[in-house]
Amino acid sequence: MIIRPRRLRKTRTIREMVRETHLSTKDFIAPLFVKHGKNVQDPILSMPGQFQFSPDTLLLEAKTLWDTGVPALILFGLPDGKDATGSRSWADDGIVQIAVNTIKDRLPDMVVMTDVCLCEYTDHGHCGIIVDGTVDNDGTLELLSRQAVSHCRAGADFVAPSDMMDGRIGQVRHALDEAGYADRGILSYAVKYASAFYGPFRDAAESAPQFGDRTGYQMDPANALEAIKEAELDMEEGADMIMVKPALPYLDIITRIHDISLLPLAAYNVSGEYAMLKAAASKGWLDGERAMMEMLLAIKRAGADLILTYFAKEAAQLLKNGN
Ligand code: PBG
Repeated sequence: MIIRPRRLRKTRTIREMVRETHLSTKDFIAPLFVKHGKNVQDPILSMPGQFQFSPDTLLLEAKTLWDTGVPALILFGLPDGKDATGSRSWADDGIVQIAVNTIKDRLPDMVVMTDVCLCEYTDHGHCGIIVDGTVDNDGTLELLSRQAVSHCRAGADFVAPSDMMDGRIGQVRHALDEAGYADRGILSYAVKYASAFYGPFRDAAESAPQFGDRTGYQMDPANALEAIKEAELDMEEGADMIMVKPALPYLDIITRIHDISLLPLAAYNVSGEYAMLKAAASKGWLDGERAMMEMLLAIKRAGADLILTYFAKEAAQLLKNGN
């Protein structure tokens, strides 16, 4: 007798009945870039379909996302000035603070997250302050805490530290509690690799390091046990959700963290993953929509509960129309 798995693939209806993984618009967190100005919507060349928004146009984009069923966004700021310590990152009139305030004022139910890091705000482009030519861990923690508190003061629901300094989750948690923000959450970029797939983002956020690279603080792509260690530390230090980043080249890591995590797990489908697909699709080398949905489904199947993705709006529109 032949065992016949194909019986369960015979019709579309049967296939839908036995499908193990489902994507929902509620899985998505949309990353958005914001800069000062009015009525600005500057295209990001290496990420077709993505823009640098000013707060007013950002609000319209947030509204569209919300109306399409996307519940959350994460903001990246382009400040009006950079210095050695990234001081514009914790200014109450900083760009992210203005943007958070604008969105929460008009869309109070939308979950607003903020990336907490110094690289967009420092003139050297590193994720921490420089002491004796290297990125100083402990001195950076205080500045990240200031930034996180300032984002919460503006109304952020979750802060997402992406710097990869040791001990930052515990320190940021403590600072938020002290400042009266015990009710705000932390989405930790717990497992963040030193990846070539961040290239387009660094154009978009104007945050490329001016010397060296990030291998002294972001993880070695060769390591998996270290990912478990990083995830466990952030859980102990008080993260509410943890993240693996990038997503597609690290599906094995997503699965391993999913298997040990008691927290919701997010995966960041990063700029390079987006750019690759868009480039191939624009040449007609693959079917952009199908490849996008397959990519997102694979990330979810691997074990991600939430996906940070530049495809959020496009994929949510497809899902809403029943695809
Ligand atoms: C900031 C940060 C980066 C990304 C998210 N937060 C860039 C980096 O670490 O160099 C990358 C996101 C993407 O590529 O889409 N530290």
